[in-house]
Amino acid sequence: TQIFVDGLGGARPLVPVAPERLQEAARRKLDAPAFAYLAGGAGAERTMRANLDAFAAVKLVPRRLCGSASRDLSVELFGHTYPAPVLLAPLGVLELAHAEADLAVGRAAAALGVPFIFSSQASEPMEEVAAAMGDAPRWFQLYWGTDEEVTRSFVRRAEQCGAQAIVLTLDTTLLGWRPRDLDLGHLPFLRGQGLAQYLTDEYFRSRLAGAPLPATSPRPSPALLRTAASLGAHGRKFGLSLSQMRAAAAHFTASYTRPDLQWDDLSRLRGWTDLPIVLKGILHPDDAREAVRRGMDGLIVSNHGGRQIDGEVGSLTVLPRVVEAAGELPVLIDSGVRTGSDVAKALAMGARAVLLGRPYAYGLALAGEAGVAEVVRNVVAEFDLTLGLLGVHAARDLRPEHLA
Ligand code: FNR
Repeated sequence: TQIFVDGLGGARPLVPVAPERLQEAARRKLDAPAFAYLAGGAGAERTMRANLDAFAAVKLVPRRLCGSASRDLSVELFGHTYPAPVLLAPLGVLELAHAEADLAVGRAAAALGVPFIFSSQASEPMEEVAAAMGDAPRWFQLYWGTDEEVTRSFVRRAEQCGAQAIVLTLDTTLLGWRPRDLDLGHLPFLRGQGLAQYLTDEYFRSRLAGAPLPATSPRPSPALLRTAASLGAHGRKFGLSLSQMRAAAAHFTASYTRPDLQWDDLSRLRGWTDLPIVLKGILHPDDAREAVRRGMDGLIVSNHGGRQIDGEVGSLTVLPRVVEAAGELPVLIDSGVRTGSDVAKALAMGARAVLLGRPYAYGLALAGEAGVAEVVRNVVAEFDLTLGLLGVHAARDLRPEHLA
């Protein structure tokens, strides 16, 4: 009701409330390659649609006269209590959306107390984002690269930055087939974007001296000149010369991922850190069971927002089977969460919390820190309202019996 009262006084939202209009407003604001990278998915984008369809197919059934005048939205994960069952998903290359990138997101998350999962492919170094967030909660998302000293260094840095969990992403051992980016010839990392964790890492930097440089053409095209300008600008920011930046982009491309990673490798990660380890990208119940056997601490059901395999199952569709297989492990979910009603559905189906992805990037594009905060507040407010209207007193009380 307060939102309408504010409206009477002339207050207008910074960002559209409905998810489709939010995305459309971001599309109008951003340049084509930036929007393509944020909004695009794998192949014909059938997985991306399956994510939304899966949420649309689930129906809620309210109970009446339950006296649910105020609701407890809080959630406990790994010994920490968070204000709502919503975390901000790790999104790489946020500088495509806004110059303040991860710093703006970190400040918005900190103001709301919602955990921000720092990406391995962030645009700002984790140390700076952590400093901007004070003691507000943050997790760290890891891509396990072929350069294991760099991988290990990231984990150590995340611990020093006060991360409360390590999220190991398993679904990006190869980069997905993304036609929107392919059409535009756009891979941001080759322009030095999204490399902040690497360019500030002492182990990564120590590799640059001997790294082979990509060949340059004697008559560079305008596109190549733009690439050089972008590499140069990132080099100035991180204290590296243009040729070091070219070596960095080449070394990153050659080493950021390890397609031969296997379950046995996880024991090394377990040895590097005492933080809870959360596996992101689990879709099959047998993988959930394997994670339990391997002593992992949590799971995130995710298909990476439909960016990796075309024709994959919608994440919500497999949630119940993964929850059942996970036993005591908390299961989170992302890929297709757009509204507070979606959060209620995911929790009723057994998720402990959800990760919000693209919508907050669109808020960032439209209005920086304030835009991120408004998108998150909208989702949480609708979730609170939905709980009340369902007749539920606490987020943790949502059950399959609230579903048709
Ligand atoms: C991602 N995602 C992602 N995941 C991850 O583990 N590390 C990363 O660096 C990124 N980067 C990234 C960039 C962009 C632009 C997008 C859209 C997504 C996946 C992300 O964490 C999450 O799984 C999806 O965003 C969920 O899908 P929706 O709900 O955003 O469509």
